[in-house]
Amino acid sequence: MCGIIGHAGRADRTLDVLLAGLEGLEYRGYDSAGVALANGDLDVCKREGEIEMLQRAVDPGLGGPVGIGHTRWSTHGPPSDANAHPHTDCSGDVAVVHNGIIENYDELKAKLREAGHEFDSDTDTEVVPHLIEDALAGGASPEEAFRSAVARLEGSYALAAVFAGSEALLATRSGSPLVLGVGDDAAYLASDVPAFLEYTDRVVYLEDGEFARLESGTWSVTDASGARLDKSVSRVEWDAEETAKSGYDHYMLKEIHEQPRALRKCLRGRVDELTGTVNVEALEGLEADAVQFVACGTSYHAALYGAQTLRAAGVRAQAFLASEYATSPPPISDGTLVVGITQSGETADTLAALRRAKGRGVETLALTNVVGSTAARECDRTLFIRAGPEIGVAATKTFSSQVVAANLLSASLAERGDAREVVEALRDLPGQVQEILDSSRAEEVADRFVDSDGYFFIGRGYHHPVALEGALKMKEITYRHAEGFPAGELKHGPLALVTDRTPVFAVVTGDGEEATKTVGNVKEVEARDAPVVAVTDGASEVERYADEVLSIPETHPRVAPVLANVQLQLVAYYVAAELGRSIDKPRNLAKSVTVE
Ligand code: G6P
Repeated sequence: MCGIIGHAGRADRTLDVLLAGLEGLEYRGYDSAGVALANGDLDVCKREGEIEMLQRAVDPGLGGPVGIGHTRWSTHGPPSDANAHPHTDCSGDVAVVHNGIIENYDELKAKLREAGHEFDSDTDTEVVPHLIEDALAGGASPEEAFRSAVARLEGSYALAAVFAGSEALLATRSGSPLVLGVGDDAAYLASDVPAFLEYTDRVVYLEDGEFARLESGTWSVTDASGARLDKSVSRVEWDAEETAKSGYDHYMLKEIHEQPRALRKCLRGRVDELTGTVNVEALEGLEADAVQFVACGTSYHAALYGAQTLRAAGVRAQAFLASEYATSPPPISDGTLVVGITQSGETADTLAALRRAKGRGVETLALTNVVGSTAARECDRTLFIRAGPEIGVAATKTFSSQVVAANLLSASLAERGDAREVVEALRDLPGQVQEILDSSRAEEVADRFVDSDGYFFIGRGYHHPVALEGALKMKEITYRHAEGFPAGELKHGPLALVTDRTPVFAVVTGDGEEATKTVGNVKEVEARDAPVVAVTDGASEVERYADEVLSIPETHPRVAPVLANVQLQLVAYYVAAELGRSIDKPRNLAKSVTVE
């Protein structure tokens, strides 16, 4: 998704900070990028494509006490130099970058055209500099002009503007994130902390409707009426080292390998191994008659898992796709808790679903990775998964941490259950993940099946979300067709697609009824000549029917999905690596999708 970076400080540092910041935001996914630096004049440079194209095009001698930069992910108009941000007014004296969608831009554009303004792009954003231009022409100061333009906008936005001849960078937000970075002699602005983490870990989160002014290395925040606000500065725990690749070929591989550490952090101080009890401060006193999960993508798979876990603990629970929940919510009773699972805490669909739930008067809980994110700030409670920054677009370590956090939630709400056994299994989980990372045969399996026509993933019960997640990872980063199904469902249609060129990954653990039935389904695909890859702890007889085996250690049935999923993450990674795909930034995808 689009990313914003801004800098106010030494004139000769602005361009470097902007370009480095754009690189820091690359992982969000983008198709064009640009910068604007204000000095006596305004210098703007923007290019379609990778940031490298911008770096090559920009005059390295550009300087200015303030500047803004942007990575764009197209919504209005295709990727092109003209549609890239920053956008300027007719005179070229105002430059604006924007994340989000301005819903009334058509109407505003028509009025501005009538008044003689000319437009260069197809974007909704371009109306903003022209609105500012109009107000400036009427005698307003840059700040007054910025505020009056913003007052006419409908929709969601994070906006930043710079002006020829002014040393001020002005910004505001409504429904799209913006955070200030506080340096010793510089102030920064970004849609996401990694953009300036290299320079400072001190941050100020902007709320909807607030306005920021950065000037000569200082910052201030005001409300809509212009009254100064006393905002607190907080420290982010992430450091620049955590957001570097540290010798791995891709962030995704690094993040897969970070899982043991991430899981330990998620559990630290929250479980008592001796008594088998769970004690999470954020969940103290929490009560719920029923739970509705809302989430998207990988987080939705964690939600499916969470709902099953809660049901097993005697709590009525369901998982919903947030985009569906936002427009057609299910019936809800007073004692229902709505839990938004969202790594970024910024996914527009999930925020919309949570707001819908809040509007119905029930309690909301965010299960998220990002401190200060919109979900964390808007929900009644927040359970942080503590996975550390995830840069690869395809979620890996955050899924594992979400699953573990769902167990913490379940134990906190449980009517009945086996918390003690689960806590013991969770304690051993990081070490078992490490065992898989050290010994996995995923690379060989990937090599054997890299030229397949498609991939199927099947699993029952807790392994159903893993089947879905295995398929999602595969399609996201390999661009190959992949589908996940509850194992019993394959024969009700998808089996028609199964051939000797479509490997079926079957997740089977334990030797209970679910395992026996899944082995039956494996026999069905084997009879159609499909290669079978068993992801298994070896307790059932599935290996007899498998062409390849990816082993996982034995554990509690509720914890096994995390282990199985690590094997599938690795397979997807190695298939994509062999195909030479853009693993960390797959085509068309974005890390945090801030439009509905
Ligand atoms: C995007 C990403 C997915 C992610 C989903 C939900 O679609 O590409 O990888 O699972 O958003 O993101 P969230 O931040 O809400 O977990």
